[in-house]
Amino acid sequence: MKQYSIAIDGPAGCGKSTAAKEVAKRLSILYIDTGAMYRTVGLYCMEKGIDLQQQYAVERALEKMDMNVTLSHGMQKIFLNAEDVTEKIRTQEAGKAASAVAALLPVRQRLVEIQRSLAKGHSVIMDGRDIGTNVLPNATVKIYLNASVEQRTKRRCHELELLGKPWNEAQVRQQILQRDESDMNRAYNPLKKAKDAVEIDTSFMSREEVVLKILDIVKEKINKKETEV
Ligand code: DC
Repeated sequence: MKQYSIAIDGPAGCGKSTAAKEVAKRLSILYIDTGAMYRTVGLYCMEKGIDLQQQYAVERALEKMDMNVTLSHGMQKIFLNAEDVTEKIRTQEAGKAASAVAALLPVRQRLVEIQRSLAKGHSVIMDGRDIGTNVLPNATVKIYLNASVEQRTKRRCHELELLGKPWNEAQVRQQILQRDESDMNRAYNPLKKAKDAVEIDTSFMSREEVVLKILDIVKEKINKKETEV
């Protein structure tokens, strides 16, 4: 198959980006992290002291900010007004701000436009919350990754431990539940499994098992499409 797209959706902490990055590497296709774009809008609003609930203020900020996404050697970099913020957006606060601005329609419209244009003309794997349902509704393969709140909490605590940051399990669990609540219950393009997505519960799977499972699904779908032609 000449060109194909893989959509990966799922809640925070289910292992989407780790798996998607690795699958992209093994298939030599582009990896597009859409959460990074919402995080960048969230970071900008935080830095400017903008009230994230005020749609008009966020919309004005969106007009002023210059966000640039580059994809090279399988790596996505994201620039905010020429500053490389790829690492800076990976905080709990930026994630929370991302989830808040992601509920606003003008933000979604602008970012979805960028995401679709990045995917045009390439084979891609894109991860987020609304990829299979909204950004790439005709994706060749759609996957919904899921994991229990308990396992996602454990993984997040382990990551914080490795980073040498303090953590509290009850707080981490609460943050995960809050993120699920805002991502799954917003009015526009909430997180949900696309009808034609394959669900994988990663709760008791290793990273490698998840990657191999995705690669199997991709191969099977692509073979099927090719024999259909
Ligand atoms: O995947 P992530 O944790 O980096 O995403 C941060 C937030 O951005 C997430 O809580 C919800 C929002 N988001 C979204 O609404 N739609 C996407 N396609 C990707 C992320």
